Amino acid sequence: MIKFKYILFTTLMIVFASCAKQKTVTEKDIHIIPKPVELKLTEGRFDFTGTTSFVVVNDEQKHLAESFINTFEKASGWKLNTTTKKPNTNFVSFNIDNNLSKEEYKLVVNKDHIEITAKGHAGFLYALETIRQLLPEQIESNKVVSNTDWHIPALTIQDKPRFVYRGLMLDLSRHFFDKSYIEATIDRLAMLKMNVLHLHLVDDQGWRIEIKKYPKLTEVGAWRVDQEDVIWNARLSVDPDEKGTYGGFLTQEELKDIVKYAATKNIEIIPEIEMPAHVSCAIAAYPELACFNQRIGVPSGGVWPITDIYCAGKESTFEFLQNVLDEVMVIFPSQYIHIGGDEATKTNWEKCPHCQKRMQDEGLENVRELQSYFVKRMEKYINSKDKKLIGWDEILEGGLAPEATVMSWRGTEGGIEASQQGHDVIMTPQSHCYFDHYQGPQNEEPLAFGGYTPLSKVYQFDPVVDAMSPEQAKHILGGQANLWAEYIPTTQQSEYMIFPRLAAMAEVLWSPKEARNWDDFTTRLPSLLERYDYLGINYSKSAYLVAASSTADLEHKQVKVVLKNEFPNADIRYVLDDKNLGEQSTKYTDSIAIKETTILKASLFKEDKPVGKVFTDTIQFHKAVGNTLNFKTPYNENYKGDGPLSLVNILRGSKNFHDGQWQAWLVDDMEVVIDLEKIQSINQVTVGSLENQGSGIYFPTAIKVFISNDGISYKEVGAIERPFAINSNSELKDFIISFEKSNVRFVKVIASNLKKSPKGEDSWLFVDEILVE
Ligand code: ACM
Ligand code: ZN
Repeated sequence: MIKFKYILFTTLMIVFASCAKQKTVTEKDIHIIPKPVELKLTEGRFDFTGTTSFVVVNDEQKHLAESFINTFEKASGWKLNTTTKKPNTNFVSFNIDNNLSKEEYKLVVNKDHIEITAKGHAGFLYALETIRQLLPEQIESNKVVSNTDWHIPALTIQDKPRFVYRGLMLDLSRHFFDKSYIEATIDRLAMLKMNVLHLHLVDDQGWRIEIKKYPKLTEVGAWRVDQEDVIWNARLSVDPDEKGTYGGFLTQEELKDIVKYAATKNIEIIPEIEMPAHVSCAIAAYPELACFNQRIGVPSGGVWPITDIYCAGKESTFEFLQNVLDEVMVIFPSQYIHIGGDEATKTNWEKCPHCQKRMQDEGLENVRELQSYFVKRMEKYINSKDKKLIGWDEILEGGLAPEATVMSWRGTEGGIEASQQGHDVIMTPQSHCYFDHYQGPQNEEPLAFGGYTPLSKVYQFDPVVDAMSPEQAKHILGGQANLWAEYIPTTQQSEYMIFPRLAAMAEVLWSPKEARNWDDFTTRLPSLLERYDYLGINYSKSAYLVAASSTADLEHKQVKVVLKNEFPNADIRYVLDDKNLGEQSTKYTDSIAIKETTILKASLFKEDKPVGKVFTDTIQFHKAVGNTLNFKTPYNENYKGDGPLSLVNILRGSKNFHDGQWQAWLVDDMEVVIDLEKIQSINQVTVGSLENQGSGIYFPTAIKVFISNDGISYKEVGAIERPFAINSNSELKDFIISFEKSNVRFVKVIASNLKKSPKGEDSWLFVDEILVE
């Protein structure tokens, strides 16, 4: 009797305790990315406990359950069980339904048990990934977290992907990434229900896959002369006899392990073996693969244009490539082999007797048709092994191989054309899918390739273009994010560029188009970022950064500053006059008009406190603002700034040299006369400049300042010299020339162009602004 009363009492206590704690869950509390197709909340919740078991009927389910159990154990300290016998309560059961599609799943969470239903491995995996995201963020911890209730709301989810192909490409050539990073990336892809990892294993700067028949591909081709201290495109060409020390490659055993691991996460690894261009490393190893047997070194950095390409005339080239692919196809069970095909400059083919003979024999009109012959021939071989060929959209030129799948990267046009011709397409336009682009204000970001593809822009991507017919749309298999690695020397940098943009890509490729909503996505993102914190992923916070876009109103001598970040209704606050951001800051609502020199600081606020990096901008008025400028040599047509007064418009050029503020000169010096319109007392001239050696932009090598009262006779009042120095960054610099206070009307400034880069190329001189004080 006593015992009974005790049980009744404790049961009541548990009911009360849990009633007291259970708040009503709404859809806003569910943060799953990518958003499921259909989700309905029901009453109550399911509590995981130390005795929750997983009911499985086969080994495949058991392995999936065990992987989940391992994750759970790290965070909770509980070692859950699998069983083949269904208990009465407190279990997760796997049910097979052959009517569902491959990656589809249903999840029913009841108070006392969870049912997951799928056709097989992929669907069960995704159901478990969804449960993981329904659990508190602490589930990602690799240490036991106390004080966490491991429960999820009662609900039903029906979910399946919009596209069958949901990919990420890692470029292992420009910088090498090893097996452990690739496997970590596989986990992160699966977490977002992505299902393809495309490995770019060959490019000019490194051959990354062991080929047993051609050992020099990795003995020679995987290593380059270390010029990592020089910006990518400014690296000098190398002597073929100099031994490479920087690089690496994956052995066939390692690649087989990666493929096997990826399969457990429903990820297909697609290997890319570039041809006929982007293969300097192979030619460095085997010069006979090129038209003229030219000896070259593995390039340490950028190569453009790419003229050292495989000879399309010699039979031995095709023999080599078939032998390489024979080994590749044994390692990768994927139905696809990617053969690259992009960016071949075919000048050698025009001159090569072998290539010319091939064109004659095959009745080919031009070298584009010769490339098409090359690709079609490789396709025939690949098809003969029951595989399919993928190529970049250049494979459309000169005629598409009959069965080829096109990866559309130079915009969506290639995809539109290929789908019109009845070919399958993977959409990966650089505008939305190139993760080597900047994702935040360029002045704040680590050096990147260029471009600007913030998180919100990735989210706007759609693989199906409006102009497509329903028939064409059926050929769009999906999309892919590409991380080219010229500017990605470390795994940390790789993570920074991939996350969280991959989350936006995942939702684009998985969730129904109608369900996509940016504002809603931004409310679910913080939970994912918290998970990434636990997982130690160096994701970017750039989407939160406050950035300014400013316009100058020279007539009224004022600047209008618009502040924003990527999030709707962000609480942005600012201060002027170099004050500190704190309680006295002003909430930003509308553009700020600035009429005198000031320092503007702004930040995102959360719960009345500044969070993240503070945005700072110095807005400097000076005596030449809005005055007339006369250039001895006009600025370049492509870099006209925002008009004739760009150098005296108060607004400053940023590290984004396409920002519309910079004026630039190619080889020429800049010589400008500023008419101050009346005699003014001045003692300093500042010349703003940019250096980005990778883009051929160099600081001036000298600056001279002259003054005059009549605009005819000038007196030199100051000069500085700055000889060329290697610079591995993109850098903004103010060159300041001070002199004795003088009353003048005209100021002449001459900035000297470097003229020729160390690589022997014409060099650019970029200037903005010239401040006279
Ligand atoms: C490419 O970006 N060259 C495919
Ligand atoms: Zn040739």
